[in-house]
Amino acid sequence: MRALITGSTGFVGQHLASYLMNYGIEVWGTTRDNFNGIIPGMKIVPVDFENVGSLVKVLDDVQPDFIYHLAGQSSVKDSWTDKSTTFQSNVNLTIHLLEAVINSTIKGKVKVLTVGSSEEYGGPDEQYKPISEDACLKPTSPYGISKATVGMLARHYFVAYGLKIIHARPFNHIGPGQRVGFVVSDFSNQIVQIERRQQNNVISVGNLSAQRDFTDVRDIVHAYYLLLNQDENADWGGSVNVCSGKATSIQSILDTLLSLSHSFIDVVVDSDKLRPVDVPVFIGDNTKLKSLTDWEPTISLTQTLSDVLKKLRDQS
Ligand code: GDD
Repeated sequence: MRALITGSTGFVGQHLASYLMNYGIEVWGTTRDNFNGIIPGMKIVPVDFENVGSLVKVLDDVQPDFIYHLAGQSSVKDSWTDKSTTFQSNVNLTIHLLEAVINSTIKGKVKVLTVGSSEEYGGPDEQYKPISEDACLKPTSPYGISKATVGMLARHYFVAYGLKIIHARPFNHIGPGQRVGFVVSDFSNQIVQIERRQQNNVISVGNLSAQRDFTDVRDIVHAYYLLLNQDENADWGGSVNVCSGKATSIQSILDTLLSLSHSFIDVVVDSDKLRPVDVPVFIGDNTKLKSLTDWEPTISLTQTLSDVLKKLRDQS
């Protein structure tokens, strides 16, 4: 079997590539530039996502059985200042890819996974119940609106062209190797800088009262694998939450990270890190994922946070 991963050099892409190769799947990763492969064994194919014709040629040449479309703008925070870029990366490039698929020779056999987000649900939902896939979409961030559009596109390409496509809606995913710009990596990077005496002993944070549903990226990519491994009777065109079903406050994430360090660290809230709208609580309902597959999260939050710190401490 052969998989094509768009965004293969990103945080999730690298974890997914390793995971699939462990299962004996041949992995091809797209890149916009002449990238020299971080993941040993992954084949790299340069792709111009603006050019549907060249995308068709790549698909015809590679002949993937699975496409994991991870490429895009992944920062909710950046979407407030880069609205056009967010839509260009997340919506337009998805259209280009899916147009290429339906115009290629793999149309009838390939299975495609698009990646959405809990941000599609928006809110706030005053009752703070676990959100299931049939909840009304009320995205409040530009990022959430773009991802909701991707989900609708997935449905469109299934209904209109019969494409076997699943739209995953991951809630917050964290783990070793995530770039700065996300809460766990932002906090962890500062802690390691403080431990190395490269920063004074004050960690700067944003909104600590928000609660999010965190899952380790290694469990997330396992779910992505299972979702495309379903048979012909899967819920093609549908959306599936990928989440733990538990909410954890950002304050609690900070407390755990601080408890994993021997340094004495003060905390200061930086108003620049607060967002115009920040949904207070996100808890996902993972009943659908568990009913479609045998997925269970396997890595505890404390283990994930410890692994994130370890990876950063090991880097020179
Ligand atoms: N980034 C960041 N940095 N967030 C902070 C900080 C900080 O220093 N301090 C507090 N926060 C709060 C944010 O305000 C937000 O409420 C929460 O921590 C999580 O922020 P992020 O880690 O940036 O994640 P996100 O929820 O905006 O988006 C992530 O999860 C989505 C799924 O729920 C991303 O991974 C998205 O790509 C993903 O779709």
